[in-house]
Amino acid sequence: MSVRIAPSILAADFTCLGAQVLSAVRGGAGLIHIDVMDGHFVPNITMGPLVVSAVKRVTDMPLDVHLMISEPDRYLDAFARAGASTITVHVEAVPDLRKTLTRIRALGVRAGAAINPDTPVEALRGVVDQLDHVIVMSVHPGFGGQAFIPGSLDKVRAVRDLVAGVGHVVDIEVDGGVDRTNASALAQAGATILVAGASIFGTPDPSVATQELLQLAQAGAGSA
Ligand code: DX5
Ligand code: ZN
Repeated sequence: MSVRIAPSILAADFTCLGAQVLSAVRGGAGLIHIDVMDGHFVPNITMGPLVVSAVKRVTDMPLDVHLMISEPDRYLDAFARAGASTITVHVEAVPDLRKTLTRIRALGVRAGAAINPDTPVEALRGVVDQLDHVIVMSVHPGFGGQAFIPGSLDKVRAVRDLVAGVGHVVDIEVDGGVDRTNASALAQAGATILVAGASIFGTPDPSVATQELLQLAQAGAGSA
């Protein structure tokens, strides 16, 4: 299974967002991760469809929209229209996960579910047939630059076992505190997308940082 890096623009310099995105793309980014927070589901407020459509204008990369918001169903159309390639909702935020995933797919967008550190992998069991990807949160959502929760590695393995044999490819994405120290182990455990904010945009050269993370992840995937 190949592995991709998804730089999270939450950590980017917004005074030159286009240049920052292009730098990560030059380094081999596979998709661009966009963190949407509403100040309700999580304590922070970030960006909305306006930023998704702005990033869409600078790159053809798939845009990976992570909704950390309450009532995400109200906004699926807007993010799809803005250019999202994937939309992820939190299992903790929706009353009927199957219905939400089905709606996302009906919009022509890849559908994903994210699980918080305290949410068991079992929460996904009833909807695996509707999932294009899972996000394993390796920090409590809300802020970039937090420390990776080590137990997330076991969760990645558990998700890998859960989606094995489902009949279609389900990407396993890990989000939070991903850096050079854990990229290889995560890919080895079964992660196929590594989200990275601070460890890419917090460095002097996002292009080099993306390239290095990709190499580490590929080495880990190769030894899986
Ligand atoms: C956290 C967000 C993450 C965040 C990751 O709530 O979902 O995508 O941007 O940032 P780092 O890599 O800095 O932990
Ligand atoms: Zn995220």
